[in-house]
Amino acid sequence: MQQQLANIVSEATSAAPGIKTRPEFEVFKAKFVGAKGSMTSVMKLMAGVPKEEKPAMGKLINEAKGKLEALFAETLARIEDAELAARLGAPIDPTLPSPDDFAGSRHPLAQIREEVCSVFHRLGFTVADGPELETEWFCFDALNTPANHPARDMQDTLFLPAGTRAPDAPKKADEAYLLRSHTSSVQIRTMLSRKPPIRIVAPGRCFRRDTVDATHSANFHQIEGLWIDRDVTLKDLKSVLDSFVREVFGNAAETRLRPSFFPFTEPSFEMDIRVPNMGALSNRWLEIMGCGLVDPKVLENVGLDASEWTGLAFGMGIERIAMLVHGIDDIRHFYANDLRFLRQFA
Ligand code: DAH
Repeated sequence: MQQQLANIVSEATSAAPGIKTRPEFEVFKAKFVGAKGSMTSVMKLMAGVPKEEKPAMGKLINEAKGKLEALFAETLARIEDAELAARLGAPIDPTLPSPDDFAGSRHPLAQIREEVCSVFHRLGFTVADGPELETEWFCFDALNTPANHPARDMQDTLFLPAGTRAPDAPKKADEAYLLRSHTSSVQIRTMLSRKPPIRIVAPGRCFRRDTVDATHSANFHQIEGLWIDRDVTLKDLKSVLDSFVREVFGNAAETRLRPSFFPFTEPSFEMDIRVPNMGALSNRWLEIMGCGLVDPKVLENVGLDASEWTGLAFGMGIERIAMLVHGIDDIRHFYANDLRFLRQFA
């Protein structure tokens, strides 16, 4: 019997390393301790062992059982480890360099927005903000653009359904909400919330019902400017905007103010630039923004005395400036999230 036990343990010990899967393990285990297992049959022999030999034999059996159980536990643990490793896949080395080591960078529109804001910051302008979901009054009426004014058509506005609620922008009962069609609404919000003198730029997202093509997007960005003080004149408008153009497009850039119309400025202009070194667009007059002196009606709408206060205002598309600065010919590149495009501005 002693020999039998020794054989069982040595058989199990030599077979264990070859057991690789759970089904193999179950068969292996049953071969020794199953109902018909070799260990089980040895234990059955105990009944015929003379009484005085029983303790010694019992001890041997327990030792052999202990060895088998340790072997089973070890084998099962090895199988479980292999299963886990198979699920985790190939080992990784965290000390290797990342296959994609691109650190990320500012979006080209964010870069231009920051550059423009910082140019105006040096000219004494701070940044102001307003809601993208606006009321008709802030977007049009207060800016001297009453209902049925053709300028409202020009904006091709995205109105929200009646019943829309926007706690950030309280409105009158009969007013509609809209996605702001320009950042000029921030002029009104700023003049109502603080006293002049005021010198702000307001960058932000705007929305129009435009069909998307190479130069139009239903969602785009503008930077609005407003300077309210005593005796602000056309000379100030020209000098502020000339400084801006030289900073962004270089000292060789020329500017001109071309008469135009906006309901909220009088007189109104389009500012054009002409730059000698801008690729295909070199030496051509290019429109870059609308501007003018704040219409006295707008000042009155926000409760400012137009005989005391004067102002200048301007508004430009961030995409337009970015396209000129970088020589980009299709506005859709800005929104496509194509890394081949974005990495050029890193
Ligand atoms: N809000 C105008 C637009 O979206 C741009 C503009 C023109 C803004 C003249 C101004 C301005 O402040 O004075 O087309």
